[in-house]
Amino acid sequence: MAAPPAPAFRLAFPGNGIALSHAQKNMQLHIAILPGDHIGPEVMDAALPVLEAALKRGGHTLRHSTHPVGGAGIDAAGKALPDATLAACAAADAILFGSVGGPKWESLPPAEQPERAALLPLRKHFKLFANIRPGLLPKTLLGASPIRPERIPEGIDLVCIRELTGGLYFGAKHTTTLPNGDTEAVDTMVYRKSEIERITDIAITTARARRGKLLSVDKANVLECSVLWRKTVAARVAATAPEIELSHMYVDNAAMQLVRSPASFDVLLTENMFGDILSDEMSVVCGSLGMLSSASIGAEKNRHGHPFGLYEPAGGSAPDIAGKNLANPCAQILSAALMLRHSFGLHTEAGAIDAAVQRAVADGFRTADIAFGNPSVSTTEMAKAVLERL
Ligand code: IPM
Ligand code: MG
Repeated sequence: MAAPPAPAFRLAFPGNGIALSHAQKNMQLHIAILPGDHIGPEVMDAALPVLEAALKRGGHTLRHSTHPVGGAGIDAAGKALPDATLAACAAADAILFGSVGGPKWESLPPAEQPERAALLPLRKHFKLFANIRPGLLPKTLLGASPIRPERIPEGIDLVCIRELTGGLYFGAKHTTTLPNGDTEAVDTMVYRKSEIERITDIAITTARARRGKLLSVDKANVLECSVLWRKTVAARVAATAPEIELSHMYVDNAAMQLVRSPASFDVLLTENMFGDILSDEMSVVCGSLGMLSSASIGAEKNRHGHPFGLYEPAGGSAPDIAGKNLANPCAQILSAALMLRHSFGLHTEAGAIDAAVQRAVADGFRTADIAFGNPSVSTTEMAKAVLERL
């Protein structure tokens, strides 16, 4: 196998499969900020000045309002996604999300817990069917990966495109007591051809902007949904993007290959549940969760004609380090860059943020999660280092 090209720290990429557009001048960006719980507000506070500085350079203005979500939503308004928060999101061009959850709310019934009761309804309500998670390990951070450095000499650079509003997450579900007294729980995996086609289109655009390799992951040796998935992806690529190098893999094999040769992946396309699992595996293979951003976009457009989207770090609310100025703000900062790209078409400003993060890391600024015993900096110092390099 040929060595993959050196990662260009492509935390995002031009085009998003829905709207290919030209950046405007003097845009007014209206975003809803949902910091959430624990480290959520800390990293959000650290990320906002970076976002504001990048926008100012481009002559744009940011209008934002902050709203409780997750545990903070439960405490403020009795539910993880308060009506006022949802309304504020609907009035905005995009959502910048922190992270939700924590021990305080863990004893609530599963369906009311911050993660499930905030994120899933937001995804469904705004039809955010495409989850884009860049998995990136730059050469400067090789030691952050649990994979031996000699197996990934050039680092890792892949993108996971996960279908986000179908499959087991949203199919019919129930729990019943059977006549014999046993209890039965049912979750249904449902996919329509049209749902598979639209997520395939996102993956095709992503692959075109990268190395042109698309791997579709399914379980077509067992599941009906996967048979339809594989057939639909193959037909869509053949009809609209024959130049893309398409391959298919069963999910169990993909889980293994992600550990065995993560650098051989370019764009990984998969359904909701498989994507949930594989994207976590991808993130750990790529080192710290504190560096991983994500975008969830859908078919609805914002006032600027770009996809409405929700942008969030992949790492969770980390209650153990909350309030200590220790959390890595990079994932939140990079999520803001993804937002500029996908929901506003501001590729130059987004690229400037990506590059500033790369330079800060290359210059040796490390929060504890990526310092491996070396001296580390605080959340605010890390954000300042990024800001200074913008
Ligand atoms: C994710 C999370 C969510 C999911 C949870 C919090 C509902 O794990 O965004 O990957 O399963 O989708
Ligand atoms: Mg997950």
